[in-house]
Amino acid sequence: MELATEYAETSVGVRLLDCDHRQLTDAINELQAAVLGNQDRTRNGELLRKLADFTLTHFALEEGMMAATRYPGTARHRLHHQHMMEQLESVLNDCREGTVTLDGQSLSFLNDWHTDHIQEDDLKYGLWLNMHGVR
Ligand SMILES: [Fe+2]
Ligand SMILES: [Fe+2]
Repeated sequence: MELATEYAETSVGVRLLDCDHRQLTDAINELQAAVLGNQDRTRNGELLRKLADFTLTHFALEEGMMAATRYPGTARHRLHHQHMMEQLESVLNDCREGTVTLDGQSLSFLNDWHTDHIQEDDLKYGLWLNMHGVR
């Protein structure tokens, strides 16, 4: 399992979002490192919960800024956020019920989960915010 991403890949040209994205990258890397290090399952579950909580907060921030700037791609972008949260919640639920163990396999989706979204959705949104004077 590779660590999620490098910071340089994640800049969308808006400081507030870049700051959040770095924290998300850190949370993913921390979780993956803990799982690879075979730390205790409770701790791994807590790190996954922490990632899910922060992701929810970050998506709410982006969606609030979309509403404030009347971003035309809001519906599609929000749908992608929902799908990403469902992926996280699904693993969290399976982990809680004991039907899955957090390991390289169950968390492999995280390798591209964040960077793909930034490159496919957040970059366009960053450009829109830049056009509206947000940097
Ligand atoms: Fe984002
Ligand atoms: Fe987003």
